[in-house]
Amino acid sequence: MTPRHFLTLLDLSKTELQELVTRAQQLKTMWRNGESYIPLKNRVLAMIFEKSSTRTRVSFEVAMTHFGGSAIFLSSNDTQLGRGEPVEDTAKVVSRMVDCVMIRTFSHEKVEKFAQNSQVPVINALTDMYHPCQIIADIQTFVEQRGSIQGKKVAWVGDGNNMCHTYIHAAQQFDFQLAVASPPGYEPNENLLSSAKKYVTVSKDPAQAVKDADLVCTDVWASMGQEGEQAKRKRIFQPFQINSKLMALAKSDALFMHCLPAHRGEEVTAEIIDGAQSVVWEEAENRLHSQKALLEFLLVKDRLEQFTP
Ligand code: CP
Ligand code: NVA
Repeated sequence: MTPRHFLTLLDLSKTELQELVTRAQQLKTMWRNGESYIPLKNRVLAMIFEKSSTRTRVSFEVAMTHFGGSAIFLSSNDTQLGRGEPVEDTAKVVSRMVDCVMIRTFSHEKVEKFAQNSQVPVINALTDMYHPCQIIADIQTFVEQRGSIQGKKVAWVGDGNNMCHTYIHAAQQFDFQLAVASPPGYEPNENLLSSAKKYVTVSKDPAQAVKDADLVCTDVWASMGQEGEQAKRKRIFQPFQINSKLMALAKSDALFMHCLPAHRGEEVTAEIIDGAQSVVWEEAENRLHSQKALLEFLLVKDRLEQFTP
């Protein structure tokens, strides 16, 4: 049986995504009430990291521990993958021993190749192209604070990067309007945009994007792997900083989100990220709850389906 994977938000149906967000909220309540829920006893998640991480690593590892299973941290520096063992071979071997694999790497094609050769579900924990785990947590956070995101206006200000690409998918899947403002040359991928015309607008005007928005999002100006461009990007992206003046154009009850890590004084001022409209800490915590919902969806439900006569 071919396993379900979670490589982008398009791998799940709209209904499945809604259910995931609802389930994440339930799992959060259960955890806060101290309820023990161990659906993944003795199950193992392999976590392959070819880039740094704080939130993703901690949340997946804690999620598996709470669920009664365990997680193995595999850094590319210490595995044969880092010495050139083909990704196909690694996938065939690792997926014979564990129940699920989570990968953070550079090229999205590498995660796709891993999934094609894996016997167990594969989760994309960030590629240069997408970061779907983060956006599930973002949607959960919005829903908890403001109710359904359907029909709302979300502003993405800054780099047309992996987070922005995933917001484009999210606009399609959760049915909201996304206004992107990026400097010329740093806009999101054109192919993605052309299939999301109904949901996404792109401009180089942050004020236009943020105007009357219900949610304002940004991210670092130089993503992992772009460290060499940091100084150049700092100059180019300066007018795209989220500060009080820009945030004042959004709705008065607009929320501010950032996947973190953040650079105060660059893409966002301290006043905003540490201010009343910011929900970044709740957003970060929700990585734990939404990932639990995802692991349960991929592992518990799939397993039950396999046993259905
Ligand atoms: N937001 C996020 O994915 O954070 P980490 O890079 O710390 O995992
Ligand atoms: N766009 C950032 C997100 C980090 C979670 C990066 O890829 O580095």
